Amino acid sequence: MRRSPTTLFASKDCVPVTDHALLSTDPQLDALWWRQAVVYQVYPRSFADLNGDGIGDIAGVTSRMDYLAELGVDAVWLSPFYPSALADGGYDVADYRDVAPELGTLADFDAMVAAAKSHGIKVIVDIVPNHTSDLHAWFQEALASERGSAARARYIFRDGTGPDGSEPPSDWISHFGGPAWTRLPDGQWYCHLFAPEQPDLNWDNPEVREDFKTTLRFWADRGVDGYRVDVAHALSKDLSEPLRSKPVLEGADLPLDGTDPLYDRNEVHDIYAEWREVFNEYDPPRTAVAEAYAASERRALYARPTGLGQAFNFDLLQADFTARDYHDVVTFCLNEAEKTGSSSTWVLSNHDVVRHATRYGLPAGVDLDEWLMSDGTAPVLDAEAGLRRARAASLLMLALPGSAYLYQGEELGLHEVSDLPYAALQDPIWLRTGNEKKGRDGCRVPLPWSSEGSSYGFGDGPAHLPQPTAFGATSAQAQDGRPDSTLELYREALRLRRQLQTVEDLAWVDSGHPDVLHFVRPGGWSCVTNFGTEPVALPAGVVRVSSSEQVPGVLPGETTVWLTAWPQD
Ligand code: GLC
Ligand code: CA
Repeated sequence: MRRSPTTLFASKDCVPVTDHALLSTDPQLDALWWRQAVVYQVYPRSFADLNGDGIGDIAGVTSRMDYLAELGVDAVWLSPFYPSALADGGYDVADYRDVAPELGTLADFDAMVAAAKSHGIKVIVDIVPNHTSDLHAWFQEALASERGSAARARYIFRDGTGPDGSEPPSDWISHFGGPAWTRLPDGQWYCHLFAPEQPDLNWDNPEVREDFKTTLRFWADRGVDGYRVDVAHALSKDLSEPLRSKPVLEGADLPLDGTDPLYDRNEVHDIYAEWREVFNEYDPPRTAVAEAYAASERRALYARPTGLGQAFNFDLLQADFTARDYHDVVTFCLNEAEKTGSSSTWVLSNHDVVRHATRYGLPAGVDLDEWLMSDGTAPVLDAEAGLRRARAASLLMLALPGSAYLYQGEELGLHEVSDLPYAALQDPIWLRTGNEKKGRDGCRVPLPWSSEGSSYGFGDGPAHLPQPTAFGATSAQAQDGRPDSTLELYREALRLRRQLQTVEDLAWVDSGHPDVLHFVRPGGWSCVTNFGTEPVALPAGVVRVSSSEQVPGVLPGETTVWLTAWPQD
């Protein structure tokens, strides 16, 4: 895109400089570090359990910082580690400025940041502004206060409808199933777009706005480099009376003018403009990435330099493993990023979705919720093909300009755990849908660090979600030093990426084959993916890394390779 492939891109020494050339001699001081970063998402409760109580902890993250450094990531993003009753895996925050006691202390957090910094790794924390936990001091105060009180005005309280007020104030529904309203003994209702234990805040309230700025500064002052903003599109709501109807959740049908009553409203950007002022109080300015489910044309609004700076796009995550899908998604997303001067984000897996090794081992278009309900038996998973395609997809993603967000365990090629016993399930989706959907626990099973042991090195005791026996063979220990392992593939890709990545540019090369995608990055680095199952001829160049076993002159099926014009160093 943007420029056709030219000989400019062919030599190592000739690096074209674009408007946002991002070569940095000192990445530590580079305020633009996030533009082409590899960010590794840690789901703290399932990463590493240092004190053996079955729950991952902050000290566990610190203990594995050497591993993350060796993997070669630029930043670590921690999903919520704040005090929480875990009604939604920690996305129900009881105190935004503390660490959950079962995960450690603020001192542990500081030690973790120090360990990260000593390796040059940045730290991103999750900010959950749409809702608090029902155990948050504010909500407890609201419950103990009268209707119409200042305490209730921090949330969205309303009287019900119907002759006796016994009907919800509006038809809004919750993401986890059921109405988005719960009634209190005193007759009033409060709004929760997620679980009842996650009351929505009222962002028209100045006190709410101020308090979140205090939280942003609290973590920035502790050395945090950036924020991932949860449900960033939902904060501003049209709360004028009568409440407007919204009987369906957001999706592709959101209006493009920012006037939906609940999602992606224009006013939400006023909040992020205020946050940007806070980010800019720091040197280097703090950075943020929005989790915003908006029409793709409006995602760029969140990613503006005057806003959060970057927005997740989940287009790659939703793409089928085909050359056409990947080509279209990459082209579209790079163009979108260019509109605002931001850089694109890329995601294949996270804590909310079925792992990509598994998705790609199932027929395209399969209903993943139904598949999980069959305990992963129908349709049958082709685990080997899934992993092969996932490795090819990841290697392609890591060659793209922009930031790649990795989810813990994908570097081990982990599959979704599809047969967790019902009794073990923790996701509110399981209960709230009346046991119709299992939810997201299958991608949140604690990591296997070693081939043996009660929880495969996760901790000394059993893990809080049961790990399958197959985890032993896929542990970090089992893969360490094995050249064909997924762990070594990621390590090599991340090492080379640092070396090869220069400016944010990409040019498509006509591969002459409908199943083959070929693009070049400035400096003569190219990436070729064969999405088909039949081998094709390998384009000219020196293979630097390959997602499957190398065959001279041949690009095997379902394989990505990186090529350079010069030999290996
Ligand atoms: C985001 C999180 C998800 C959580 C929800 C509510 O989508 O990624 O895990 O359940 O927000 O906070
Ligand atoms: Ca622990």
